[in-house]
Amino acid sequence: MTEPALDALLHESRRFEPPADLAAEANAKADMYDEAGRDRLAFWERQAADLTWSAKWSKVLEWEPPFSKWFIGGTLNGCVNAVDRHVEAGLGDRVAYYWISDGDTERRTITYADLLREVSKAANGLASLGVKAGDRVTIYMPMIPETVVTILACARLGAPHNVVFCGFSSDSLSGRINDSDSHVVVTTDGQFRRGAPTPVKPAVDEALQKTPGIEKVLVVRRTGAEVDWTEGRDHWWHDVVEPASDSHEAEAFDSEHPLFMMYTSGTTAKPKGILHTTGGYLTQVAFTHRVVFDLKPERDIYWCAADIGWITGHSYIVYGPLINGATSVMYEGTPHPADKDRWWKLIADLKVSILYTAPTTIRTLMKWGAEELAPHDLSSLRVLGSVGEPINPEAWMWYRENVGGGRTPVVDTWWQTETGAIMISPLPGVTATKPGAAMTALPGISAEVVDNEGKPVGNGGGGFLVLTEPWPSMLRGIWGDDERYKETYWSRFPDVYFAGDGAKKDEDGDIWLLGRIDDVMNVSGHRISTTEVEHALVGHPSVAEAAVVGATDAMTGQAIVAFVTPRGSVAEDVSSGEEFVQSLRDHVAKEIGPIAKPRQVLVTPELPKTRSGKIMRRLLRDIAENRELGDVTTLLDPTVTDAIRERMAGGDTKEE
Ligand code: PRX
Repeated sequence: MTEPALDALLHESRRFEPPADLAAEANAKADMYDEAGRDRLAFWERQAADLTWSAKWSKVLEWEPPFSKWFIGGTLNGCVNAVDRHVEAGLGDRVAYYWISDGDTERRTITYADLLREVSKAANGLASLGVKAGDRVTIYMPMIPETVVTILACARLGAPHNVVFCGFSSDSLSGRINDSDSHVVVTTDGQFRRGAPTPVKPAVDEALQKTPGIEKVLVVRRTGAEVDWTEGRDHWWHDVVEPASDSHEAEAFDSEHPLFMMYTSGTTAKPKGILHTTGGYLTQVAFTHRVVFDLKPERDIYWCAADIGWITGHSYIVYGPLINGATSVMYEGTPHPADKDRWWKLIADLKVSILYTAPTTIRTLMKWGAEELAPHDLSSLRVLGSVGEPINPEAWMWYRENVGGGRTPVVDTWWQTETGAIMISPLPGVTATKPGAAMTALPGISAEVVDNEGKPVGNGGGGFLVLTEPWPSMLRGIWGDDERYKETYWSRFPDVYFAGDGAKKDEDGDIWLLGRIDDVMNVSGHRISTTEVEHALVGHPSVAEAAVVGATDAMTGQAIVAFVTPRGSVAEDVSSGEEFVQSLRDHVAKEIGPIAKPRQVLVTPELPKTRSGKIMRRLLRDIAENRELGDVTTLLDPTVTDAIRERMAGGDTKEE
């Protein structure tokens, strides 16, 4: 963000008070902050008491930095909390999900009673394939009800799930299967994307050539595509799960029993398996879902438009809403230019009252124009949420004014895969919001903005976002790598969690998130490491060296820009070839997944380096964003940047 933009943002004078009717009935109360401030642990204990436990905990927290344990001695089952207890309470007929297919050609209504039957069958089915408590199960599935069912069945069996976003490549998948040491994969034959069937199982088959540990593959038939079949290893869902018994006795597990792992990009080429456990995670996702979205389960229709392959889907499509007995919309598709008002139709049709999405999507819908909304009655909406990247004030205002009809609170929620649940957000009914600010840490959460020395910056200052006290849904570690856990999050400042985000406090002390300050890019709310993309590029036979930066992009927040030096022998023929650039972009998509495809690839004879040989990324970012260059005197060869700039200006790039 440039300084003037930052300045404007920090002197935001617009305030939006909570609507009186919402405030009168809000789940969140202003005194929650004081209540939690007086006794944080007692506060979290009260939230945990809303779950159904088989045995109560004897101690709230054990904190041996940086390792925490919550609700020690308590036992519970995640699936029972999400499903069984609602059926037992007589709410079996309540709709858990209105599932809408891509393009809305098919709809399914799934009640809590349906979900209990399906999950019990799936638990029996998975058990018949040998899955037992503690076993990791990798899930590589699109946005279909069976994905939720599989996740819950794993939770029921105490088998930690490892969901891999279905857009990731076979290489990314095999890496995550091997690192998690899974023996079972659940997948589909294919998926529908933008109106067309696309294959899924071939990527699994390819991945499994490198995963000696996999014994069983369970396949849901979704598109009816022809698939290769390995007898003994591959099993159809309809052969294993459908005929299984719909009664399954759930066991209670320790509060600290691993619930799931989720791989996310860090600053090295190897993704980190973020580990979440049961009691603390479920406590915080349920609490935050209830207060941040002001959920009234008996009357709200809630739609979180994320993908289940990311943490937002885990916490706010699956666990949070189900634990709270919510009725959710689950949509298989994504916004599509050929179908610009699909979202507005769905909201009007299903009377969606709470919508949770990412700024990139809001900007896309904004680009398509308010006229797309006009024919649709969106008056059912009462709370709007944003997540995944900083939201620019224009998008925030458009969201509130056009989607929310100028009435609805907008909650900009900051959190991460690692935090498990929302950490910083306004509370509808309590907080007067500012366009673009995440505002304050939630009750029971301690966030601070600190300078280089770790000292709080005070109002009007900027620095690093840290979390100063442990929280229930915090990651318990990185799967199999305690050292990396300590090094990544806890070494920058002693005993304080370092989030990797830059932040500012405005003159009122409210928090504004400014984006990552490490080598992690945020493209359309997807987290991608520069090192991972560089690693993929240098794996191409014609690439000698690569440097990748995230450049500011008006639509996607950041965009991937790659600077590539070709290998000597091919350098002359290929260096400016459109075909070469395209082959590099395709190569990255194949290695990591289409979300990591660089927007631009710039082929250059040299990369700018310091005298000690470090690539000058700041300079590359400046070039990619076309800014005036800063100090280049430490450059080995200052003419290098001129060469790069000339090529950039000459359009030696590829844009989609
Ligand atoms: O940089 C922050 C950004 O997304 C990162 C976390 O990414 P991930 O683990 O994939 O989780 C995304 C969904 C929770 C953060 O370090 N981020 C997330 N929410 C916001 C945000 N940046 C600014 N404002 C937000 N509301």
